[in-house]
Amino acid sequence: MKKFIIPSIFVFTLFVCMLFFQNCTASKEAIANKSGAQLWGENCLRCHNTPSPTDFNDTQWKTIGLHMQDRANLTKDEADKIVTFLQSAN
Ligand code: HEC
Repeated sequence: MKKFIIPSIFVFTLFVCMLFFQNCTASKEAIANKSGAQLWGENCLRCHNTPSPTDFNDTQWKTIGLHMQDRANLTKDEADKIVTFLQSAN
């Protein structure tokens, strides 16, 4: 009986790791597929009201994007998408 315990723990751990890994890649893809508008809605009102896209011009949004990428802990890709969305909507 004892002979089977260690291999089963090993297999179980492997299985859990696989599930975990699959989960991670799935959520990364989900984030990558999000639009700028979606990311803006989800991220920019965590700390303050979202300013309207028309409140700032393209150059200002670029600077704000860099600043808020840092504040909101976004990837460059996410921040770029949000800025592109804001610039297209002002
Ligand atoms: C972690 C909190 C946090 C998140 C998330 C966040 N911000 Fe901010 N934001 C701040 C803080 C704090 C300030 C005050 C100015 C500073 O940080 O220097 C600010 C200021 C601003 C300002 C300047 C407001 C003004 O009237 O001058 C704009 C515009 C802005 N944020 C846009 C955004 C956008 C767009 C996002 C989404 C990408 C975002 N913020 C996400 C914390 C956050």
